[in-house]
Amino acid sequence: MSWLPRPAEGTAWVAPSLLSADFAHLADDIAAMTTAGCDLLHLDVMDAHFVPNLTFGPFICEAIRRVSALPLDAHLMMTSPERYLEPFAISGVDALTIHVESAAPLAATLARIGELGMKRGISLNPGTPLDAVLPWLGQVDLVLVMTVQPGFGGQAFNEAGVAKIAELARRRAAGEGAYLINVDGGINAHTGRTCREAGADILVSGSWLFKAEDRAARIAQLRGRPA
Ligand code: DX5
Ligand code: ZN
Repeated sequence: MSWLPRPAEGTAWVAPSLLSADFAHLADDIAAMTTAGCDLLHLDVMDAHFVPNLTFGPFICEAIRRVSALPLDAHLMMTSPERYLEPFAISGVDALTIHVESAAPLAATLARIGELGMKRGISLNPGTPLDAVLPWLGQVDLVLVMTVQPGFGGQAFNEAGVAKIAELARRRAAGEGAYLINVDGGINAHTGRTCREAGADILVSGSWLFKAEDRAARIAQLRGRPA
């Protein structure tokens, strides 16, 4: 199990979303992103029920584990993630993020993720008020702020996430939890900087990183510079 501390002031960790990878050459894409300097990998698990799209599950996560030593963060866009916690743990991922809008019993599911030795994440959609996650801040290792409606890559950034990031950072500084703040959807150099400055610790980027000619340069842009 490998995980990340808080990034240095003024910087963020960079997590390519493999949704934009070429799955016929997944190991090559992961190797290229790793050489380009990314810090962890973001795995988008979709169940065709919580979101209108279907991707992959523990079987592919385990294949990714075999070709990468980076921390693996699985973003579970699933109605009933609680039914699959053991298979994901066995697959070797380091963190599981569930949605506050899912049907999962949240307290029990977060506790079980921790018992299985994984980091506990909670996510909220752009239309969900931050209030929905406040009761869980003391019981999670990361909060994932969605800045697009989950389901597909390549959508435009929703500005409403910026205030949520800032409020999460403020609450953490006030002693309400010790989570990393993760942001996902429509991240590029401009929106990434906005989120970093608001207090985001991890920037997830799919289409913008994968379509780059020079991925290392884009990762460096997203990471930012130490203050
Ligand atoms: C959306 C996924 C995101 C997505 C991000 O449902 O959760 O991780 O892949 O892709 P971009 O960066 O293209 O918005
Ligand atoms: Zn995601």
